Amino acid sequence: MTDDFEQMWRDLLPLGRSASSGGYFRQPWTAPEREARAWFVEQAEARGLAVERDGLGNLVAWWGTGRTDAVLTGSHLDSVLDGGAYDGPLGVVSALAAVDVLRGRGFEPRRPVAVGAFVEEEGSRFGLACLGSRLLTGATSWETARVLRDREGLALEDALADEGLDGSRGTWLDGVATFVELHVEQGRDLVDRDEAVGVASAIWPHGRYRFDFAGEANHAGTTRMEDRRDPMLSYAMTALAANKQARVSGQRATFGRVDVRPNGTNAVPSHVTAWLDARAESSTALEQLLADVERQAQERAGRDGTSLTVTAESVSPEVAFDPALAARIAEPHRWPVIPTMAGHDAGVLSAAGVPTAMLFVRNPTGVSHSPDEHAETADCLAGVTALADTLALLSGGEQ
Ligand code: GLV
Ligand code: MN
Ligand code: MN
Repeated sequence: MTDDFEQMWRDLLPLGRSASSGGYFRQPWTAPEREARAWFVEQAEARGLAVERDGLGNLVAWWGTGRTDAVLTGSHLDSVLDGGAYDGPLGVVSALAAVDVLRGRGFEPRRPVAVGAFVEEEGSRFGLACLGSRLLTGATSWETARVLRDREGLALEDALADEGLDGSRGTWLDGVATFVELHVEQGRDLVDRDEAVGVASAIWPHGRYRFDFAGEANHAGTTRMEDRRDPMLSYAMTALAANKQARVSGQRATFGRVDVRPNGTNAVPSHVTAWLDARAESSTALEQLLADVERQAQERAGRDGTSLTVTAESVSPEVAFDPALAARIAEPHRWPVIPTMAGHDAGVLSAAGVPTAMLFVRNPTGVSHSPDEHAETADCLAGVTALADTLALLSGGEQ
């Protein structure tokens, strides 16, 4: 089992890794992510699993006959810009390794076990988080998604066509009774508890909001300070206000992406577009956080002579995972049951009514969405065993 996991991990590791930062650029429907999906198909077929693909690039590989009442496991292969190796791929590699473990135990599942890889979980290219699973579940319609544009202005529909994909969604979720996603922890809860593995209780509601500030381009030398309509100032104050608002209310607010036009050193900018990632303990708290930030941004824009429009690009409601399922998985092993502030395909499937659970694997520093994201091999292997035990429990087989 150690060999299976470590060999798969070594094979996947170079795909999309930046030589300069060591981080990953596996944006969906680009060469490195395409290679990662091809790697998945190769691994699944080498195990004799029957692979299905849809017109988005979502993948599933079946162990066992029949396509009903299945236990689905897996995660995603795409990354954020300059992301870590573990966020997503750990769940996919562990799923395949868990099948190997169960087979090594002579286990025969009564219910089919399926291993899946969802596309564009991070929303790093088209802005909408968990796009693949949202389309699969119908949470987002193709009509809404097809016109989403990437940073180069390419529509999703055209990006897919370039890949030979037609945008049609798979129907395999119809046969899925339970989903379990294993994921690297993106915090330090398990470190503080001295535990290698945990089970998720809930996901905080979160959203991505585009703030478009418009002002007036002008000369950086000749324009008197009092004559400017500078959207950079409106944005800068908004970033500070968001940080303060989140700190005082115990929530999270981040401006991690900014686009400045024309982006010249010696010109007052005409436009600043900035994306707020906001997360909160409840939907009410999230709405309040956004309202507070937007109010302060509008007030400042008024004083700067700029204008502001705010657009919600991706909003994910609070998810409470099935507590009975979490307890059934966690209790025999006394694994802690912990919440997370990160979004996952598991949240989308849970919201779609699929009984869903998550396993977390300890991350020594808690750092994630960064090249420094890490998990020790021993903990990853503990995660594989935990997932194998969980799949055995849920697929109800004999051994
Ligand atoms: C996904 O990783 C997210 O929480 O943004
Ligand atoms: Mn992520
Ligand atoms: Mn992830």
